[in-house]
Amino acid sequence: MKPANIQVYPNPQLLAEAAVKHFIEQAHLNISVNDRFNVALSGGSTPKAMHQLLADKYSDLVDWSKVNFYWGDERSVPPEHPDSNYGMAKETLLDHIDIEPRQVHRIEAALPPEEAAYEYIRTLRDYIGSETPNLDLIFLGMGDDGHTASLFPHTTALQETENWVVANQVEKLDTWRITLTAPFINQATQITFLVAGENKALALKQILEGPHQPELYPSQLIQPVSGQLLWLLDQAAASRLESPE
Ligand code: 6PG
Repeated sequence: MKPANIQVYPNPQLLAEAAVKHFIEQAHLNISVNDRFNVALSGGSTPKAMHQLLADKYSDLVDWSKVNFYWGDERSVPPEHPDSNYGMAKETLLDHIDIEPRQVHRIEAALPPEEAAYEYIRTLRDYIGSETPNLDLIFLGMGDDGHTASLFPHTTALQETENWVVANQVEKLDTWRITLTAPFINQATQITFLVAGENKALALKQILEGPHQPELYPSQLIQPVSGQLLWLLDQAAASRLESPE
């Protein structure tokens, strides 16, 4: 595994600032080179601070007309459900920037899970090509059990080697999720984890400094084929790392 690029920030606020700066840099780079920026957002709670900061203070630094949004995973709920990752992004970012609905590609998670996964593969093929599509930037979070996107320990999605998107039954949550797979994520040009909080510190130490055991710590599956991997951490999440920087 290539040594990861790890950046540690003193607190969640400075971490959010760093994540916004990273988003803007990536947007400028990809828009200047390719005249477009295809970015996948992650769910959960950690990205909210970055989304709100980007929307409230820095939105005029991005040419939103060139940006297309995707998601790394989604819960099996409709978009208006409080658990929806799309709904969270809509509330904290999308409703506050100048972007058209045709530039926002949510996972149709109200469909039966397998159908939602199939439809999202079509969406990705339609918008970013059907060869080896590589999103410009994929944001990922990490759970305290070491999962990322909806790649949870001991679930079937961890074994997927072909499909870009799968429906994944997560027994411990008694639910289905729709998730990008590791082979697809690893095609991205830039993969960036955003992890905050003391409760993530033990899993993060295992993932970055422990043996390779992705069944237990699925975030270890994330190893870019030719792109870059960046971990943006706050001090609390990094507190158990030997040499965090
Ligand atoms: C989801 C996410 C998931 C998330 C982690 C961390 O659908 O929940 O995509 O992978 O990033 O669970 O969540 P927190 O940011 O809430 O800790």
